[in-house]
Amino acid sequence: MTLDNQRLKDHLSPNSADARSIAPRADSTALTTRELEDRRIIHRNDSVREQADAFRELRTRLLALGGERNFVTLVASVGQGCGGSFVARNLAAAFAFDDSKSALLVDCDALHPSQHAALRVDTSHGGLIDYLEERQPDLGSILYSTGIPRLQLIPSGSQREITGEAFSSLRMRMLVDSLHSRYPDRYLVLDAPPVLGSPDARILSGLADLVVLVAGYGKATPEQIDKAVASFAPEKLAGVVFNHIP
Ligand SMILES: Nc1ncnc2c1ncn2[C@@H]1O[C@H](COP(=O)(O)OP(=O)(O)OP(=O)(O)O)[C@@H](O)[C@H]1O
Ligand SMILES: [Mg+2]
Repeated sequence: MTLDNQRLKDHLSPNSADARSIAPRADSTALTTRELEDRRIIHRNDSVREQADAFRELRTRLLALGGERNFVTLVASVGQGCGGSFVARNLAAAFAFDDSKSALLVDCDALHPSQHAALRVDTSHGGLIDYLEERQPDLGSILYSTGIPRLQLIPSGSQREITGEAFSSLRMRMLVDSLHSRYPDRYLVLDAPPVLGSPDARILSGLADLVVLVAGYGKATPEQIDKAVASFAPEKLAGVVFNHIP
């Protein structure tokens, strides 16, 4: 992994809520290694060491850029299927690996939500979109345990085509602010829709401190990567992860 022109290049191996309502819930029983592999989540065993090390390294570099405070990271694919959701999920898990930190993964892809299915979370109380559209007024109800200690998920909820306005709303801004300022050890990871083809990722970047762009290795062209890079404020762009999709 090298830091090149302030871009982080990472080669992954193939293989207003009150305090009570947003308090972290007790974690459910920790998952087995097999269950973590089924969810495509890194773990501490040797079989995925290279990949786990890559995510730890990414976390360390973000921590160096983010400074003392906890921060909000937006993870966005250049185009569909580059692995943005995979990287977002594992980056959140890497933050949660550290006993002194917790992580909250927020699935912001309303058209192609994927984290609830990957993490096998039953989303019966709804998710982000339900909260933004005020069908679910209680923020605490959309925070779900994942089985991974200190990692919670806000799923996307109702699948629909929403406009970027929902993400630029005051309700969305207050949601992100309260989730991240209430607990100083909580690191937020926003899983964005692909950058090319919709303004949503760019709009969401307004809520984030740092942006990680994910390019599918051999999938996104240099022109597409440049175009995606240009969507974000340069000072927020932490780098580009080149993801080898097996
Ligand atoms: N490095 C990797 N190792 C193993 N599996 C991966 C890797 N990268 C991606 N995948 C798998 O490839 C599939 C597509 O990845 P993912 O959903 O993360 O892509 P995406 O860019 O978020 O797609 P979308 O455009 O639909 O949001 C998923 O099943 C994911 O688990
Ligand atoms: Mg995705």
